[in-house]
Amino acid sequence: MTPQTTSLPTATAVLFVCLGNICRSPQAEGIFRHLATQAGLSAHFDIDSAGTAAYHTGELADARTRRASEAHGIALPHRARQFMVADFDRFDHILAMDRANMRDILALARSDADRAKVRLLRSHDPLAEVDSVPDPYYGVGDGFEQVFQICQAACQGLFWKLRPVT
Ligand code: 4NP
Repeated sequence: MTPQTTSLPTATAVLFVCLGNICRSPQAEGIFRHLATQAGLSAHFDIDSAGTAAYHTGELADARTRRASEAHGIALPHRARQFMVADFDRFDHILAMDRANMRDILALARSDADRAKVRLLRSHDPLAEVDSVPDPYYGVGDGFEQVFQICQAACQGLFWKLRPVT
């Protein structure tokens, strides 16, 4: 008998990018992973985050980010890393948190195919009134909870578009 070859469904690779990779993008990464896990689709996605700057390479997410995330039952074990050109090869979708992040990512793009992968995360939230996720790093008050809510709304929109239709 001829052995059956089974082709595994190709994973969809999604990268969230901010400046430092310790506040917004690890939050979005954790939320998107949580959505995929809840839907039983974690094997379908390759999910990561990165920063356009290297200031915090190797660090856990900011303690205030982790507190906000843990309050919603999501742990963030990610260690910060800098965005690199090879990320255009690994990822299908590159989600920038704000316009400065998007400009810095696009400055590294080598082709129209690279550029076509880059979008603002909030473009996936149909109710968003502004296009960027605000940077909470130097802020006070409940900025980190607001960032959680903003990232959650946008990640839900993104997940809805990228989930495999069965
Ligand atoms: P993030 O926030 O880009 O959302 O991770 C920041 C974290 C650190 C710095 C700036 C923004 N910083 O200047 O160190």
